[in-house]
Amino acid sequence: MSELFEKGYSIGDVISLLWFKKKLPKYASQFIEMSLMITADHGPAVSGAHNSIVAARAGKDLVSALASGLLTIGPRFGGALNDAAKYFKGAKDSGMSPKEFVNDMKAKGIYIPGIGHRIKSVQNPDKRVGILKEYAKKHFKKTDYLDYALEVEKLTTAKKNKLILNVDGGLAVIFLDLMENCGFSKNEINEIVENGALNGLFVLGRSIGLIGHILDQYRLKQGLYRHPWDDILYLKE
Ligand code: ACO
Ligand code: LMR
Repeated sequence: MSELFEKGYSIGDVISLLWFKKKLPKYASQFIEMSLMITADHGPAVSGAHNSIVAARAGKDLVSALASGLLTIGPRFGGALNDAAKYFKGAKDSGMSPKEFVNDMKAKGIYIPGIGHRIKSVQNPDKRVGILKEYAKKHFKKTDYLDYALEVEKLTTAKKNKLILNVDGGLAVIFLDLMENCGFSKNEINEIVENGALNGLFVLGRSIGLIGHILDQYRLKQGLYRHPWDDILYLKE
């Protein structure tokens, strides 16, 4: 670490060295830093933040409340990067057209990981994804996976306006492009995707926001949380 300080390395450089065993070019380590900022928070109402808040208000310590939020990250919330990379890469590399991919996933009954959002839509775009796309288009020589995913998005949003390329999907396909642009070998890319390294970006980034929500609860001395009954009532009257 002292050597990294002497060389003036950034946090993006530290992550690329520790996670991917490489010193990446500046545009790539900057993308890693962007991904941490983009994923840092999306307000208190999202699944992970809500759970961290509930745990903090139950009197749990910071590590426990953080773990409660982190353990909520999964295929539907924040943890779709791994599968998005796997499925988009698999489809594009095998020469499937975006239409064939969408139809194939529909036939298999699998939601396309990295597509869809609860509140964001074509009419209410997710600006975070816009920022990521713009950066990749400006700094990457090739954006083949992103371009493929944008074609998929055209087909899914034609069906339903909420079926946009989401933050998880955007990060995943752009990270595939990053690895191609930075000369990772096929084996290295496959290993990183198969080992589930990409979810690490969301986990690390969102930890920043979760800790913020936990500290807010402590600072505001919030008492025990109890959820409004009618929101979760499942018994028929
Ligand atoms: N692929 C294909 N169809 C989909 C997808 C998808 N990824 N997501 C939703 N749909 C369709 C459903 O089939 C459904 O169609 P129907 O009305 O004809 O039955 C319709 O869209 C609505 O589906 P819901 O499950 O009600 O959508 P909801 O808004 O509740 O779900 C969610 C949002 C959970 C993100 C969902 O789109 C999904 O599971 N996406 C894949 C996982 C993913 O990428 N998660 C990361 C989200 S971003 C983040 O957490 C930072
Ligand atoms: C997030 O970043 O947490 C989200 O996109 C999920 C959400 O429900 O807003």
